[in-house]
Amino acid sequence: MTESKPILEVRDLLKTFGAVVAAKDINVDVRKGEIVGIIGANGAGKTCFVNMVTGYLKPTSGSIAFDGVQLVGKGPREVTHAGISRSFQVSQVFHTMTVAENLMIALAIAKNRGFAALREMDSPDLLTRRDDVLTRYHLDSYKDMTVNVLSQGVRKLLDIAMAVVSEPRILLLDEPTSGISVEEKFGFMDVVIEALREDEVTVLFVEHDMEIVERYVSRVLAFYQGEIIADMSPKKALADAKVQEFVIGTRH
Ligand SMILES: Nc1ncnc2c1ncn2[C@@H]1O[C@H](COP(=O)(O)OP(=O)(O)OP(=O)(O)O)[C@@H](O)[C@H]1O
Ligand SMILES: [Mg+2]
Repeated sequence: MTESKPILEVRDLLKTFGAVVAAKDINVDVRKGEIVGIIGANGAGKTCFVNMVTGYLKPTSGSIAFDGVQLVGKGPREVTHAGISRSFQVSQVFHTMTVAENLMIALAIAKNRGFAALREMDSPDLLTRRDDVLTRYHLDSYKDMTVNVLSQGVRKLLDIAMAVVSEPRILLLDEPTSGISVEEKFGFMDVVIEALREDEVTVLFVEHDMEIVERYVSRVLAFYQGEIIADMSPKKALADAKVQEFVIGTRH
Protein backbone atom coordinates (compact mmCIF):
# COMPACT_ATOMS: atom_id res chain seq x y z
CA MET A 1 0.00 0.00 0.00
CA THR A 2 1.34 3.43 -0.84
CA GLU A 3 1.50 5.77 2.11
CA SER A 4 0.30 9.27 1.39
CA LYS A 5 -0.14 12.18 3.74
CA PRO A 6 -3.60 12.17 5.35
CA ILE A 7 -6.15 14.50 3.78
CA LEU A 8 -7.79 14.94 7.20
CA GLU A 9 -5.89 15.03 10.49
CA VAL A 10 -7.91 15.30 13.69
CA ARG A 11 -5.95 15.80 16.91
CA ASP A 12 -7.05 15.64 20.56
CA LEU A 13 -10.55 16.86 19.84
CA LEU A 14 -12.61 17.70 22.90
CA LYS A 15 -16.16 19.02 23.04
CA THR A 16 -18.09 19.56 26.24
CA PHE A 17 -21.55 20.97 26.85
CA GLY A 18 -21.47 21.74 30.57
CA ALA A 19 -21.03 18.34 32.21
CA VAL A 20 -21.76 16.44 28.97
CA VAL A 21 -18.64 15.24 27.17
CA ALA A 22 -19.68 14.91 23.52
CA ALA A 23 -16.15 14.30 22.19
CA LYS A 24 -12.95 13.34 23.96
CA ASP A 25 -9.46 12.31 22.83
CA ILE A 26 -10.53 12.08 19.20
CA ASN A 27 -7.49 11.36 17.03
CA VAL A 28 -8.10 10.33 13.45
CA ASP A 29 -6.16 10.41 10.18
CA VAL A 30 -8.14 9.90 6.99
CA ARG A 31 -6.46 9.29 3.66
CA LYS A 32 -7.71 10.27 0.25
CA GLY A 33 -10.25 7.87 -1.19
CA GLU A 34 -11.11 6.17 2.08
CA ILE A 35 -14.75 5.35 2.78
CA VAL A 36 -15.13 5.57 6.54
CA GLY A 37 -18.18 4.38 8.45
CA ILE A 38 -18.97 6.15 11.73
CA ILE A 39 -20.96 3.96 14.10
CA GLY A 40 -22.17 4.29 17.67
CA ALA A 41 -25.27 4.24 19.85
CA ASN A 42 -27.66 7.20 20.11
CA GLY A 43 -25.87 10.09 21.79
CA ALA A 44 -22.39 8.58 21.24
CA GLY A 45 -21.11 11.77 19.58
CA LYS A 46 -21.31 10.94 15.87
CA THR A 47 -23.18 14.05 14.77
CA CYS A 48 -21.05 16.28 17.02
CA PHE A 49 -17.95 14.92 15.29
CA VAL A 50 -19.43 15.62 11.85
CA ASN A 51 -20.51 19.09 13.01
CA MET A 52 -17.00 19.92 14.23
CA VAL A 53 -15.33 18.80 11.00
CA THR A 54 -17.79 20.82 8.91
CA GLY A 55 -17.62 24.05 10.94
CA TYR A 56 -21.10 23.85 12.50
CA LEU A 57 -19.72 23.28 15.98
CA LYS A 58 -16.57 24.72 17.48
CA PRO A 59 -14.49 22.20 19.46
CA THR A 60 -13.67 23.07 23.07
CA SER A 61 -10.07 22.22 22.14
CA GLY A 62 -8.08 20.27 19.60
CA SER A 63 -7.32 20.68 15.92
CA ILE A 64 -8.70 19.58 12.57
CA ALA A 65 -6.41 19.95 9.56
CA PHE A 66 -7.63 19.48 5.99
CA ASP A 67 -4.76 19.15 3.56
CA GLY A 68 -2.61 20.97 6.10
CA VAL A 69 -5.08 23.86 6.55
CA GLN A 70 -6.51 24.39 10.04
CA LEU A 71 -10.33 24.22 10.04
CA VAL A 72 -11.03 25.05 13.67
CA GLY A 73 -12.34 28.61 13.76
CA LYS A 74 -13.78 28.46 10.25
CA GLY A 75 -17.55 28.53 9.77
CA PRO A 76 -19.58 26.17 7.59
CA ARG A 77 -19.35 28.31 4.44
CA GLU A 78 -15.58 28.59 4.69
CA VAL A 79 -15.25 24.86 5.28
CA THR A 80 -17.41 24.11 2.24
CA HIS A 81 -15.36 26.55 0.22
CA ALA A 82 -12.19 24.77 1.35
CA GLY A 83 -13.55 21.50 -0.09
CA ILE A 84 -15.57 19.70 2.58
CA SER A 85 -19.29 19.21 2.11
CA ARG A 86 -21.98 17.37 4.07
CA SER A 87 -25.54 16.18 4.30
CA PHE A 88 -27.68 16.31 7.45
CA GLN A 89 -29.43 13.71 9.57
CA VAL A 90 -32.70 15.31 8.41
CA SER A 91 -32.52 16.06 4.69
CA GLN A 92 -32.44 19.69 3.64
CA VAL A 93 -34.33 19.57 0.34
CA PHE A 94 -37.23 21.87 -0.60
CA HIS A 95 -40.31 19.65 -0.61
CA THR A 96 -42.63 21.61 -2.88
CA MET A 97 -39.99 22.19 -5.56
CA THR A 98 -38.91 19.79 -8.27
CA VAL A 99 -35.71 17.75 -8.26
CA ALA A 100 -34.27 19.94 -11.03
CA GLU A 101 -35.15 23.15 -9.18
CA ASN A 102 -33.59 21.90 -5.96
CA LEU A 103 -30.35 21.09 -7.76
CA MET A 104 -30.31 24.48 -9.46
CA ILE A 105 -30.60 26.22 -6.11
CA ALA A 106 -27.74 24.13 -4.72
CA LEU A 107 -25.62 24.98 -7.77
CA ALA A 108 -26.40 28.68 -7.45
CA ILE A 109 -25.48 28.63 -3.75
CA ALA A 110 -22.29 26.70 -4.47
CA LYS A 111 -21.24 29.50 -6.81
CA ASN A 112 -21.35 31.64 -3.70
CA ARG A 113 -22.91 34.70 -5.25
CA GLY A 114 -26.02 34.90 -3.11
CA PHE A 115 -29.18 36.10 -4.82
CA ALA A 116 -27.32 37.34 -7.88
CA ALA A 117 -26.69 33.69 -8.72
CA LEU A 118 -30.42 33.02 -8.88
CA ARG A 119 -30.62 35.18 -12.00
CA GLU A 120 -28.14 32.85 -13.66
CA MET A 121 -30.21 29.80 -12.86
CA ASP A 122 -30.85 28.84 -16.44
CA SER A 123 -27.40 29.65 -17.78
CA PRO A 124 -26.08 26.95 -20.15
CA ASP A 125 -23.15 26.31 -17.84
CA LEU A 126 -25.32 25.53 -14.81
CA LEU A 127 -27.82 23.53 -16.86
CA THR A 128 -25.02 21.32 -18.14
CA ARG A 129 -23.72 20.75 -14.64
CA ARG A 130 -27.21 20.10 -13.33
CA ASP A 131 -27.87 17.48 -16.00
CA ASP A 132 -24.55 15.80 -15.34
CA VAL A 133 -25.36 15.46 -11.64
CA LEU A 134 -28.91 14.26 -12.44
CA THR A 135 -27.48 11.47 -14.57
CA ARG A 136 -24.73 10.39 -12.22
CA TYR A 137 -27.16 10.17 -9.31
CA HIS A 138 -29.78 8.34 -11.42
CA LEU A 139 -32.27 11.16 -11.00
CA ASP A 140 -33.13 11.83 -14.67
CA SER A 141 -36.56 10.29 -14.58
CA TYR A 142 -37.52 12.25 -11.45
CA LYS A 143 -36.27 15.59 -12.75
CA ASP A 144 -39.66 17.33 -13.03
CA MET A 145 -41.32 15.74 -10.01
CA THR A 146 -41.76 17.64 -6.76
CA VAL A 147 -39.87 16.21 -3.82
CA ASN A 148 -42.98 15.45 -1.77
CA VAL A 149 -44.08 12.68 -4.16
CA LEU A 150 -40.72 10.89 -4.12
CA SER A 151 -39.70 7.85 -2.10
CA GLN A 152 -37.32 8.43 0.78
CA GLY A 153 -34.51 6.78 -1.22
CA VAL A 154 -34.87 9.21 -4.11
CA ARG A 155 -35.12 12.18 -1.74
CA LYS A 156 -31.90 11.14 -0.08
CA LEU A 157 -30.20 10.75 -3.46
CA LEU A 158 -31.21 14.32 -4.24
CA ASP A 159 -29.95 15.44 -0.84
CA ILE A 160 -26.51 13.98 -1.55
CA ALA A 161 -26.50 15.25 -5.14
CA MET A 162 -27.11 18.74 -3.72
CA ALA A 163 -24.16 18.33 -1.35
CA VAL A 164 -21.74 17.38 -4.13
CA VAL A 165 -22.44 20.26 -6.53
CA SER A 166 -19.72 22.24 -4.74
CA GLU A 167 -17.32 19.47 -5.91
CA PRO A 168 -16.03 18.58 -2.43
CA ARG A 169 -12.91 16.50 -1.82
CA ILE A 170 -14.35 15.20 1.43
CA LEU A 171 -18.03 14.46 1.95
CA LEU A 172 -19.60 13.73 5.33
CA LEU A 173 -23.03 12.13 5.39
CA ASP A 174 -25.09 11.91 8.58
CA GLU A 175 -27.18 8.74 8.38
CA PRO A 176 -27.66 8.66 4.59
CA THR A 177 -29.79 5.50 4.70
CA SER A 178 -32.11 6.41 7.58
CA GLY A 179 -35.74 6.05 6.61
CA ILE A 180 -34.91 4.22 3.38
CA SER A 181 -36.73 0.93 2.86
CA VAL A 182 -34.91 -2.40 2.96
CA GLU A 183 -35.73 -2.85 -0.74
CA GLU A 184 -34.19 0.48 -1.68
CA LYS A 185 -31.13 0.70 0.56
CA PHE A 186 -28.53 -1.28 -1.40
CA GLY A 187 -29.53 0.21 -4.75
CA PHE A 188 -29.31 3.66 -3.19
CA MET A 189 -25.85 3.05 -1.73
CA ASP A 190 -24.59 1.50 -4.99
CA VAL A 191 -25.47 4.72 -6.84
CA VAL A 192 -23.99 7.00 -4.18
CA ILE A 193 -20.73 5.12 -3.66
CA GLU A 194 -20.14 4.61 -7.38
CA ALA A 195 -20.61 8.32 -8.11
CA LEU A 196 -18.35 9.36 -5.23
CA ARG A 197 -15.62 6.86 -6.17
CA GLU A 198 -15.68 8.13 -9.72
CA ASP A 199 -14.99 11.64 -8.42
CA GLU A 200 -12.37 10.31 -5.96
CA VAL A 201 -14.25 11.88 -3.06
CA THR A 202 -13.18 10.80 0.43
CA VAL A 203 -16.29 9.83 2.37
CA LEU A 204 -17.15 9.66 6.06
CA PHE A 205 -20.66 8.58 6.86
CA VAL A 206 -22.65 7.95 10.00
CA GLU A 207 -24.52 4.66 9.75
CA HIS A 208 -26.65 2.54 12.06
CA ASP A 209 -27.20 -0.30 9.58
CA MET A 210 -24.41 -2.87 9.97
CA GLU A 211 -25.25 -4.52 6.63
CA ILE A 212 -24.46 -1.22 4.94
CA VAL A 213 -21.28 -0.79 7.00
CA GLU A 214 -20.08 -4.28 6.12
CA ARG A 215 -20.71 -3.83 2.42
CA TYR A 216 -19.53 -0.30 1.67
CA VAL A 217 -16.91 1.01 4.08
CA SER A 218 -13.17 0.43 4.05
CA ARG A 219 -12.79 1.41 7.68
CA VAL A 220 -14.93 1.84 10.79
CA LEU A 221 -14.75 4.44 13.56
CA ALA A 222 -16.85 3.30 16.51
CA PHE A 223 -17.93 5.99 18.98
CA TYR A 224 -18.95 5.44 22.57
CA GLN A 225 -19.63 8.29 25.01
CA GLY A 226 -17.70 10.73 22.87
CA GLU A 227 -14.64 8.54 22.42
CA ILE A 228 -13.46 6.34 19.58
CA ILE A 229 -13.37 2.79 20.93
CA ALA A 230 -12.47 1.09 17.65
CA ASP A 231 -10.74 2.21 14.46
CA MET A 232 -10.36 -0.81 12.20
CA SER A 233 -11.66 -2.70 9.18
CA PRO A 234 -15.41 -3.39 9.14
CA LYS A 235 -14.81 -7.11 9.46
CA LYS A 236 -12.72 -6.68 12.60
CA ALA A 237 -15.00 -4.01 14.03
CA LEU A 238 -18.16 -6.08 13.72
CA ALA A 239 -16.44 -8.95 15.54
CA ASP A 240 -14.88 -6.71 18.20
CA ALA A 241 -16.12 -7.35 21.74
CA LYS A 242 -16.35 -3.66 22.69
CA VAL A 243 -18.16 -2.77 19.47
CA GLN A 244 -20.58 -5.63 20.02
CA GLU A 245 -21.29 -4.52 23.56
CA PHE A 246 -21.41 -0.74 23.19
CA VAL A 247 -22.62 -0.28 19.62
CA ILE A 248 -24.39 -3.28 18.16
CA GLY A 249 -25.87 -4.48 21.44
CA THR A 250 -27.51 -1.11 22.02
CA ARG A 251 -29.73 -1.17 18.92
CA HIS A 252 -33.40 -1.48 19.57
N1 LIG B 1 -26.12 21.60 21.46
C1 LIG B 1 -25.98 20.71 22.44
N2 LIG B 1 -26.10 21.05 23.74
C2 LIG B 1 -25.95 20.15 24.74
N3 LIG B 1 -25.68 18.86 24.52
C3 LIG B 1 -25.55 18.44 23.25
C4 LIG B 1 -25.70 19.34 22.14
N4 LIG B 1 -25.50 18.64 20.99
C5 LIG B 1 -25.25 17.38 21.36
N5 LIG B 1 -25.28 17.25 22.71
C6 LIG B 1 -25.03 16.02 23.47
O1 LIG B 1 -23.82 15.46 23.01
C7 LIG B 1 -23.88 14.04 22.95
C8 LIG B 1 -23.59 13.54 21.56
O2 LIG B 1 -24.66 13.91 20.69
P1 LIG B 1 -24.69 13.57 19.13
O3 LIG B 1 -25.82 14.33 18.53
O4 LIG B 1 -23.35 13.79 18.55
O5 LIG B 1 -25.03 12.02 19.16
P2 LIG B 1 -25.18 11.00 17.94
O6 LIG B 1 -24.13 9.95 18.12
O7 LIG B 1 -25.22 11.72 16.65
O8 LIG B 1 -26.61 10.32 18.27
P3 LIG B 1 -27.82 9.87 17.29
O9 LIG B 1 -27.49 8.48 16.84
O10 LIG B 1 -29.01 9.87 18.21
O11 LIG B 1 -27.94 10.86 16.18
C9 LIG B 1 -25.29 13.68 23.47
O12 LIG B 1 -25.19 13.41 24.84
C10 LIG B 1 -26.08 14.94 23.21
O13 LIG B 1 -27.16 15.04 24.11
MG1 LIG C 1 -26.63 11.99 15.20
